[in-house]
Amino acid sequence: MQWKEFLEGPWTLDRASDAWNPWEMMTTLGAATESLKDFRILIVDDEESNAEALCKLLHRAGYRDVEFEKDPREASKRFAEFRPDLLVLDLHMPHLDGFGVMDAVRPHRGEGEYFPILVLTGDLDDDIRTRALAEGAKDFLTKPFEASEVLLRIKTLLETRSLHLELQKQNRKLEVRVMDRTRALYDAQTEILFRLALAAEYRDDVTGQHAERVGILSALIAGELGLSEDAIALIRRAAPLHDVGKIGIPDSILMKRSALTPSEFEVVRSHVDIGAKILSGGSFELLRMAEVIARTHHERWDGGGYKGMAGEDIPLVGRIVAVADVYDVITSDRPYKQAMSREKAVARIQQDEGAHFDPAVVASFLSVVESGRLDGIRRVMPATMFSGRHELVTPQQIVAPS
Ligand SMILES: [Fe+2]
Repeated sequence: MQWKEFLEGPWTLDRASDAWNPWEMMTTLGAATESLKDFRILIVDDEESNAEALCKLLHRAGYRDVEFEKDPREASKRFAEFRPDLLVLDLHMPHLDGFGVMDAVRPHRGEGEYFPILVLTGDLDDDIRTRALAEGAKDFLTKPFEASEVLLRIKTLLETRSLHLELQKQNRKLEVRVMDRTRALYDAQTEILFRLALAAEYRDDVTGQHAERVGILSALIAGELGLSEDAIALIRRAAPLHDVGKIGIPDSILMKRSALTPSEFEVVRSHVDIGAKILSGGSFELLRMAEVIARTHHERWDGGGYKGMAGEDIPLVGRIVAVADVYDVITSDRPYKQAMSREKAVARIQQDEGAHFDPAVVASFLSVVESGRLDGIRRVMPATMFSGRHELVTPQQIVAPS
């Protein structure tokens, strides 16, 4: 039965009849299933009567959202507005043929998505068929159409699209879950390292804030130096471990209030090697950066530091943490010394530019000072890091006091 006859035919046939019954055929084979009824179908055909009849057929089969466009030059705009799930496309049209329409709508299709195009044509030789497939056609219908064939092919194409969309949805869910898990793993690493840094600071700093402040100030300097967001985030988390090697320094030396003897000073210097050893062979980037920082944060730009490295031979993270560490130590009270004022400490850092410190790092430190954020660091810190769980303070949270 031709589809136009089918449409005009006896739709209200006695459904109890044993005779072949187009209603039966429609409901059992070609009719839209519940999940397909809201899929949008766009028909582009210059023969208005054809397109209208096809629309009617699809509506009767249960599809709620079917539109047609008779001017192929308008197809692209119509496609973008209507966002169909299926394009039924006549191949032979004036002004712009079906191939032209396929080209025109391509930019509006989702990247990598399965989008079905059902090509309608009166004659379909092998070359045209191959070209249509290459351009994105998924199936063909040759005129005159069989109503049942039209509906079955459309249903199959929409079922395939439905499966692809479901798969994409599942993939996106999976990606979100993987991201959540990765994030949780990263947070766990951060928290464990934070607590390791606290353990190292325990005898030296009763608030546990020093290590964290060095992390934040290092990240702010790194930001002024123009480092990437990823690098800044790593420095923020790795820098607090700079003195982890102090775990290996005896109390009698670490907490001594009087001046250290040369041999005691040698023991203190060994904290860089102990720290690097504790952190060595890390399997993730954060640990590897922490190891570099632990080993090099007492190097001097002029080569006069613990290991005698100089200039750019000292890893940048070591040069950054050198400034942040010294600034924070000299502006903090300790049982054996009083804190220096912010102005004096900044002047001291400036004085040591090119000798102790990398001039570029000092310039970035001064930019942090000028922005007012240096004073913002202590304001966001909890009074002590030794109780409860603390959210990681990020450089973005540091603002100049108003
Ligand atoms: Fe140190």
